[in-house]
Amino acid sequence: MPSITIQTETVQSIIHVGACLERLEHLVPARDRICIVDRVVADAHAALLPPGDHLYLEGGEGAKTLARVEQLYQTFLERRCDRDTLVVGIGGGALCDLIAFAAATYLRGMRVTLVPTTLLAQVDASLGGKNGVNFGGYKNLVGVIRQPECVICDPRFLGSLTPQIFRHGMAEVIKHAAIGDRHLFAQLETDRERLLALEMATLEQVVTAAIQVKAHVVSADEMERGARVTLNFGHTLGHAIESTCALPHGEAVSIGMMADARLSVVHAGLAVSAVSRLQGLLTAYGLPTTPCGEWPKLREAVRQDKKRHHDAIRLGVLTDIGTSTVMELPLDTVEQFFAREWSDA
Ligand SMILES: NC(=O)c1ccc[n+]([C@@H]2O[C@H](COP(=O)([O-])OP(=O)(O)OC[C@H]3O[C@@H](n4cnc5c(N)ncnc54)[C@H](O)[C@@H]3O)[C@@H](O)[C@H]2O)c1
Ligand SMILES: [Zn+2]
Repeated sequence: MPSITIQTETVQSIIHVGACLERLEHLVPARDRICIVDRVVADAHAALLPPGDHLYLEGGEGAKTLARVEQLYQTFLERRCDRDTLVVGIGGGALCDLIAFAAATYLRGMRVTLVPTTLLAQVDASLGGKNGVNFGGYKNLVGVIRQPECVICDPRFLGSLTPQIFRHGMAEVIKHAAIGDRHLFAQLETDRERLLALEMATLEQVVTAAIQVKAHVVSADEMERGARVTLNFGHTLGHAIESTCALPHGEAVSIGMMADARLSVVHAGLAVSAVSRLQGLLTAYGLPTTPCGEWPKLREAVRQDKKRHHDAIRLGVLTDIGTSTVMELPLDTVEQFFAREWSDA
């Protein structure tokens, strides 16, 4: 069973990939434990869950509110949880974010293990310690950076994903391949049928490789002073498209990656043929690649971006398939580039 380590300046976070949730007690021993489970996952995978008296919550984006955080604090209080209590969050990316944020802030930090159950959560949301909730209409406006001590990615959970939710996860897998692993990119091109058929051995390989890309970047730059910005490839416009066009995250990021790849041709010397390969791969997994929404509205959302520093914006750009770098460009330059992309579309 592969395990991957995120090693920051101060802490270690261990990620196990494989059919191993039954070994939870062995992998993460704890005197006291509370499992908080996505209701959809509990219904679809009752036999996989650890024994015990769990708390069941509604998953999905609507879960990421401060009101839900308060409800979790209340539960921790009623169950007399202390700083040694292990909080185990089992669910999609939204619940992982909610649970890890509540646990990180209660008593200034409890022990946390995440068991992500969607593809997106396994390769992205559960890793790297950025967890938070939405506020005032903005995504992830309130949050922390604090690594979970353990993440367990059990591929058996992925068997019940709808094709749509699977596709959204593939957008992040493709992002990780594009920014950091050309072999993974090539495997995604050749193993499409196996992946779409949810073949477990192939899924496990691909999930492991995608996690390795993120683990490597977060280990080098936990606090996003540099290299971690590459993980934001496709996300500056992606987040803007997600909020203004009401598209799911994975679809919005897919369109955002195409725009960032074209920008990479002009500003980072990316070959035009690499843009075609990226477009071919996104399309092969049913993800959209053409601009959507009205540019003036998107521009307002881009201006709110957390990666903006005064009149400049830091972007993750591709230099080749499988390699990337961080570039700081004047906000005007970036806006003019995207405005042209949108008017040409
Ligand atoms: N913290 C980070 O670094 C980070 C990174 C990327 C994304 N995110 C966050 O992740 C969230 C998106 O995560 P997501 O795509 O997992 O969506 P999600 O958590 O909203 O889950 C989507 C749906 O799938 C259901 N579900 C979960 N597991 C399932 C399973 N095994 N089978 C069938 N259905 C299942 C959920 O109940 C929900 O209805 C967003 O809120 C995003 O902001 C966070
Ligand atoms: Zn994303």
